[in-house]
Amino acid sequence: MQIVIQTLSRWYNLESRDLPWRRTRDPYCIWISEIILQQTRVAQGLAYYERFVGQFPDIQSLAQADEADVLKLWQGLGYYSRARNLHKASRMVMNELGGVFPSTFQDIQQLPGVGLYTAGAIASFAFGEKVPAIDGNVKRVGARFFGLVEDIQSQAFQKKLFSLLKDAMVFADANVFNQAMIEVGATVCSPTQPQCDVCPLADGCLARLQQLQKQLPVSRKKQKPLSKFHYYVDIRCGDHHVVVRRPDTGIWSHLHEFPLIEGDTADWDLDAVLGRWGIVEKIIVEGEKTFKHQLTHQTIHAKCWYLCLPSNKFVKNDGWQWLEKDAILSLPLHRLMEKMIRFT
Ligand code: ADE
Repeated sequence: MQIVIQTLSRWYNLESRDLPWRRTRDPYCIWISEIILQQTRVAQGLAYYERFVGQFPDIQSLAQADEADVLKLWQGLGYYSRARNLHKASRMVMNELGGVFPSTFQDIQQLPGVGLYTAGAIASFAFGEKVPAIDGNVKRVGARFFGLVEDIQSQAFQKKLFSLLKDAMVFADANVFNQAMIEVGATVCSPTQPQCDVCPLADGCLARLQQLQKQLPVSRKKQKPLSKFHYYVDIRCGDHHVVVRRPDTGIWSHLHEFPLIEGDTADWDLDAVLGRWGIVEKIIVEGEKTFKHQLTHQTIHAKCWYLCLPSNKFVKNDGWQWLEKDAILSLPLHRLMEKMIRFT
């Protein structure tokens, strides 16, 4: 085992990608990078990372920011609760921990939005603690290397891999070991075409030795994404449109969008939608468009009607705001809303 780990470390030092979050030991920057990389690939994550640490270079500046500015920087990445948790956690560090980022695997897990993977990544990359950082890539590499047959989504798998990796890294540099495992998963040990001939782990890999690369990891069938039906109205009067801020819970929390009715079926018409808000006044329908929006676990079939009103006097539902298009574009918006408003 020790020889394979030496080979892995040497390979990492020679072959790994030069990435900005690998050039720092600052737990704040590492934390930001890891949360971004849970949302997107390295190629797109780089720009988000540079912008984020450019605008909020330390935990203090993030804690002092308005939540809306943090959400705005996150725009397009999805899973906006991650951005809200970053903000919340920064305030927690400033207000409850004297501005000092927690430095152990156990303590880092207390931050909102930080799970086992992120805590392991920060503890090992910033502080050298010998704990594994197991993300989706490392699960695949680990399942193959150790020949684990448990479902990779199961607790049993997580526990077993955690313990095997913890033992394996005893004699390694924790930062290099975890980064190298991530790097192997991202660049060599791909889901369908693992390049075993150039893999630094090949000599100890059970899947390669037994030709089980296609069988491992074992994963229960992916569930079919749920279908949802969103009915939006863009109500315009002159240069102003109605927007609503989404509530504290559920998807896209605190992001802005056009007024929405969520239906169970695909067959709602405009009268039914307007009826739900009690709008009976004369409205000019300027257009309509459907959008298919794919999230990780659901497909949203959205329809937006583009409406024009002669006067905005009567439209006074709770939480509805009349704003000009530029003002709306400067608010935090989810990507579907961006698509709908850019169509106007
Ligand atoms: N994905 C998740 N963490 C990463 C890291 N530190 N480097 C590259 N890709 C990653």
